[in-house]
Amino acid sequence: MAVVGIGGFADLHHLALARLENEREVQMLATCDPALNSLAAQCEAHRFGERGVSTYTDIATLLSRHAHELDAISISSPIPFHQEHHRMSVGHQIACYLEKPPTLDPAELESMIATDLLAAHPSAVGFNHISQPWRLRLKKRILAGEFGSLVEVGFAGFWRRPIGYFVRNGWAGKLLFGEKILLDSCCGNAMSHYLHNMLFHAGTRGLWEWARPTGVTAELYRANDIESPDTIFARGTLDEGIRFRIIATHACETRQRQREIIQCEDALIEIPEDGCGTITWRDGTIESFSAASLPAPTLLRENLQEYFAFLTGDRSRPSSTLADCRAFVSLNSRLYLSSPCIQRIDDAHLSLLAADDFGGVTLIIPDIEQTGEDFLLDGRLPSEKGVEWAMEGSSACISSETAPNLLRQRITHLQASSRENPIRNLNSIQRARRKH
Ligand SMILES: NC(=O)c1ccc[n+]([C@@H]2O[C@H](COP(=O)([O-])OP(=O)(O)OC[C@H]3O[C@@H](n4cnc5c(N)ncnc54)[C@H](O)[C@@H]3O)[C@@H](O)[C@H]2O)c1
Repeated sequence: MAVVGIGGFADLHHLALARLENEREVQMLATCDPALNSLAAQCEAHRFGERGVSTYTDIATLLSRHAHELDAISISSPIPFHQEHHRMSVGHQIACYLEKPPTLDPAELESMIATDLLAAHPSAVGFNHISQPWRLRLKKRILAGEFGSLVEVGFAGFWRRPIGYFVRNGWAGKLLFGEKILLDSCCGNAMSHYLHNMLFHAGTRGLWEWARPTGVTAELYRANDIESPDTIFARGTLDEGIRFRIIATHACETRQRQREIIQCEDALIEIPEDGCGTITWRDGTIESFSAASLPAPTLLRENLQEYFAFLTGDRSRPSSTLADCRAFVSLNSRLYLSSPCIQRIDDAHLSLLAADDFGGVTLIIPDIEQTGEDFLLDGRLPSEKGVEWAMEGSSACISSETAPNLLRQRITHLQASSRENPIRNLNSIQRARRKH
């Protein structure tokens, strides 16, 4: 086994795989990272030398030395490198566990799906939650019609991210990476797991089906000095006419809070972050179910183990293949196609929060959590409600399939307009007092 990447989230891959190595489930042979020289502390912490893990600065050298002895590779490099790293690994017939999102460019996804058809084993995409046993049980109950027809799905995610998060590398908060369509955002990256979950629950054509968007209306906002949005409101329709609503933001006070919603004719299903799901039946009866999520390193370890179980024939499929990501990547790209601009929120409507538990200060929209909760209830976008920081008419519905060059044109336009904005002077933004 090898890992592409050492720092950032790849660190968790190394932790998870070291534990699996202790249990003699895998043997780690090699890893690579172009920043190897500055990652001495991580290399020492993972005891690469003692464990016989060879280190390289690039994947080409790693593969040239080890491809013949590798069964699998986990790719935890930045999103813009996924396609190349996947193609090179598959070219050597090595099974790939690829971090989510595989790419956010629909055309690039199609080329990766085509590459994967040549793979010795289908690749797995590291979306975290699809294989949760309770989630699969819930979807089976939905498909069996126990709650009546599925009417609407929703997601609300309030995940605070400080200014430092957006400058941690050369690609965070970017729409393009060189010529590549990147679209890194709260929906495209950090909370992408939940959009993928939402489309999974709405995929009523079968257990391993994800509903595709048929119409999307979105409003995109940014509090941070980035190209992409850090706050997204969207609503629309999916296959079979199922409606959806999404509110996701990094510009909030709460460190991490989210809620998945599945509204059926006879029951409302809610999955909050506390691991206690509820089913509220039409007659008011409330049923609870365990919707527990494992902590990050354990979750990753389970996901990797599942992929190994697939490779050894003990599972029928990876829980998310590249083709399974089509719906999510399509939805994400339509957020941009439906938005003529990414509205920069005025300094007067922002506050600065000293959020030292995550490092540094965070730009927050003080009323964002209430505005988001209201949107989840009534489906009215901020501009439709006359919210002070919203921009009227900043959304348009995109319904039909669109040509790839239209997305590139839109992204180029959005990028150019983001560059017209001056860098914020943080001294002119009022400091927030923490509520709790
Ligand atoms: N599953 C999850 O919960 C989860 C959480 C966080 C991040 N991620 C995903 O992990 C991936 C990496 O994200 P990140 O925030 O850690 O990125 P990052 O920018 O911090 O990079 C991770 C590591 O990859 C290295 N790297 C950069 N270019 C490389 C290359 N060409 N070859 C090999 N290594 C290279 C970097 O030096 C760094 O050490 C992304 O796909 C991200 O979405 C997943």
